[in-house]
Amino acid sequence: MLANGKGAIRIEHVDKVYDAAGAPVQAISDCSLDIRAGEICMIVGPSGCGKTTLLNAVAGFHDITGGSIWLDDEMLCGPGKPQAQPGPDRVVVFQNGALFPWKTNLENVAFGPVVQGRMSKAAAREKARELMAMAGLSGTENSYPGEISSGVRRRVEIVRALMNDPKVLLLDEPFRALDSLTKSVMHEALLEIYYKNKVTIFFITHDLEEAIFLGQRVAIMTTRPCKPKKVLDVDIPHPRDYSVLTSRRFRELMEETVHAVHEEAVKAFEAGEKEM
Ligand SMILES: Nc1ncnc2c1ncn2[C@@H]1O[C@H](COP(=O)(O)OP(=O)(O)OP(=O)(O)O)[C@@H](O)[C@H]1O
Ligand SMILES: [Mg+2]
Repeated sequence: MLANGKGAIRIEHVDKVYDAAGAPVQAISDCSLDIRAGEICMIVGPSGCGKTTLLNAVAGFHDITGGSIWLDDEMLCGPGKPQAQPGPDRVVVFQNGALFPWKTNLENVAFGPVVQGRMSKAAAREKARELMAMAGLSGTENSYPGEISSGVRRRVEIVRALMNDPKVLLLDEPFRALDSLTKSVMHEALLEIYYKNKVTIFFITHDLEEAIFLGQRVAIMTTRPCKPKKVLDVDIPHPRDYSVLTSRRFRELMEETVHAVHEEAVKAFEAGEKEM
C-alpha cells in the first residue's frame, strides 16, 4: 500500500436533507467513511443515491444537516458549522471540466494560482510546465483546448487541479464521456500522476472496472439515502498496469462488486417504481 502524509478525510455520521420548496429529500443518512491520507478511494452506487451530494459537502459547495466531515485534524463542517469553506486543499475536477478556450493549455494550467495571487506568472508557468511534462503533456503547452482530444483535455484539467498542491482531489465521474480506449490511457496517466504526487483521491464512478483498477478501496453505497453498504479492499498491489485486469483476483473483486451494486440498483429501481 502506498502511504503518504497528504489529507485524510473522515466522514462521520453525515446526514444531508435537501429541502427545496418544502419537499424534503434525504440524500445522505448516517454516512461514515474514513478515507486514508494518500489513498485512492472509489465511490460507486446507484444513480441518484447521493454520491455527488457527499463530494459536494466535502468540497464545501453546500451544507450538511447532521454529522461532521474532517480533513486531518480540522473539522471542515459539523456542529455549529454546517458548511465547509471551499479551499485549495480540496480541488474538484468536474465531469464537464471547463478550460478557457481562448487560453492555451499552459495558460489554463497556470491561471489559478496567478489570479489568486499565490504565485507570480513566471513561477506559475514554470510549475505548469513541470506538471504538464509529468503528465505526458509536453508539446501541448501552446495548443488551445479546442485543438486537443478530449482525453488530453481531461489530463490538462487534472494537472490544473494539482497546481495548488491540494491534499485531496475530488473527482466526479471525470472520464465518463471518454471512449474505453482513451479511458484506459487516462487511468494509467492518472496513476502516473498519483504515484508522483501521492494526493488523496476521492473518485466517483459508475464504471466498476475503473473502480477496481484504480482504487485501493471501493466504497459501494446504498440506494438513497446513501451510506457505505460495503467497503471493499482491493488487495492488488500498486503500482498497477493493465495486466491486472485479466488476473483472477481482479475478476473475483469484480464479481463481488457487481453483486453488491446490482442489489442496490434493483432497490433503487423498485423505489423509483413506487414513487411513479
Ligand atoms: N439541489 C438539490 N435540491 C434537491 N434535491 C437534490 C439536489 N441535488 C440533488 N438532489 C437529489 O438528491 C439525490 C442525490 O443526488 P446526487 O446528485 O447526489 O446523486 P448521485 O449519486 O450523484 O447520482 P448520479 O450517479 O446520477 O450522478 C437525488 O435524489 C437528487 O434528485
Ligand atoms: Mg452524481
